[in-house]
Amino acid sequence: MDLFEYQARDLFEKHGVPVLAAEVVTDAADAGPAAERVGAGSGGVVVVKAQVKVGGRGKAGGVKLARSPQEAVEAAEQILGMDIKGHTVGAVMIAQGAKIAEEYYFSLLLDRTNRSLLAMCSKEGGVDIETLAEERPEALARVSVDARTGIDDATARHILEQAGFDTADVDAIAPALVRLWDVYQGEDATLVEVNPMVKTEDGQVLALDGKVTLDDNADFRHEDHAALADTAAADPLEAKAKEMGLNYVKLDGNVGIIGNGAGLVMSTLDVVAYAGEEHTGGRAKPANFLDIGGGASAEVMSNGLDVILNDDQVRSVFVNVFGGITACDAVATGIVSALEILGDEATKPLVVRLDGNNVEEGRAILARADHPLVTIEDTMDGAARRAAELAAN
Ligand SMILES: Nc1ncnc2c1ncn2[C@@H]1O[C@H](COP(=O)(O)OP(=O)(O)OP(=O)(O)O)[C@@H](O)[C@H]1O
Ligand SMILES: [Mg+2]
Repeated sequence: MDLFEYQARDLFEKHGVPVLAAEVVTDAADAGPAAERVGAGSGGVVVVKAQVKVGGRGKAGGVKLARSPQEAVEAAEQILGMDIKGHTVGAVMIAQGAKIAEEYYFSLLLDRTNRSLLAMCSKEGGVDIETLAEERPEALARVSVDARTGIDDATARHILEQAGFDTADVDAIAPALVRLWDVYQGEDATLVEVNPMVKTEDGQVLALDGKVTLDDNADFRHEDHAALADTAAADPLEAKAKEMGLNYVKLDGNVGIIGNGAGLVMSTLDVVAYAGEEHTGGRAKPANFLDIGGGASAEVMSNGLDVILNDDQVRSVFVNVFGGITACDAVATGIVSALEILGDEATKPLVVRLDGNNVEEGRAILARADHPLVTIEDTMDGAARRAAELAAN
């Protein structure tokens, strides 16, 4: 999960990374009182910053200085509702202004290729770091960090020396890097980026802009992280599926897909995409990924169907199940009772392919139920073709 800047800022503060006072508002009228509360910083200004999960806000006009609470309101009025690279600004952060002497760059991220962590650091921050990495790679230090030791004082100093900082700056900045490691490890992040990290005219080191990605696999360790989710932006079907504990990803096609096991569902997506190209001239494509897992009880099946049938783009559904520990007869019973539970809500044709453990029994159960919406197919390819044709026509 990617966080908003203000959420990253809050985590920084929690772990002792130096940040400036700030508040978030969604209504421009609240920007004035917020500016008064955070107080003008050393520069006598506050900064009004668009909160969107995309880079380049400054260049897009999403970061403005304000010299008074009234100016903060005006800036908030201009920024709220602004479109930045397809993201509508719904909130602005009002932060104390800093008198910046120098802008630096620091990030720590998971380096999968090297099975390690990677710290990147530069004396030339604030700018677009991708451009710097491309045009002047020597100005961006890359230091591999052992996840077991993380960034202690010695590692922090090493990173800063590699980036070319002099001793006085190394002394001043190293503690902030150690704190940022604390954020990375303590919150189970996969990315912590500060751009810019600044030195103010009076020598203070501050994180002025933060980007944090949290590892969702570690959510169980962080009850407080659920509150960070941007429920307003989430796809409503994905949100509903998550509530039901389903493994669901919305795609933009018209063939709903349910399978048991991630591998089977992935190959079902491929087979449907192929059948759509081959037999419908590209008019049928997978509408989602949905893995109902090994259990595949009637309840899970009906929850899954419920989510998929509520997708307006879906024209047909392909249920592809390979019976293993959960045998095909149990899955077939699940499908039949799911259709009973859904009643009139089930309105789209279902193509079912069962194979594996107790397949004959499973097919017999579906045949006996003789539901008008259900077609049974013997092979995965045949079922994919049928589902694609139903969706296209
Ligand atoms: N609190 C502040 N006080 C003074 N100047 C600031 C403050 N926050 C940001 N700035 C200035 O504005 C510039 C852009 O801010 P920031 O890094 O937050 O946005 P951005 O880089 O445009 O957005 P993104 O990081 O999403 O690409 C900074 O490089 C800095 O010069
Ligand atoms: Mg930035």
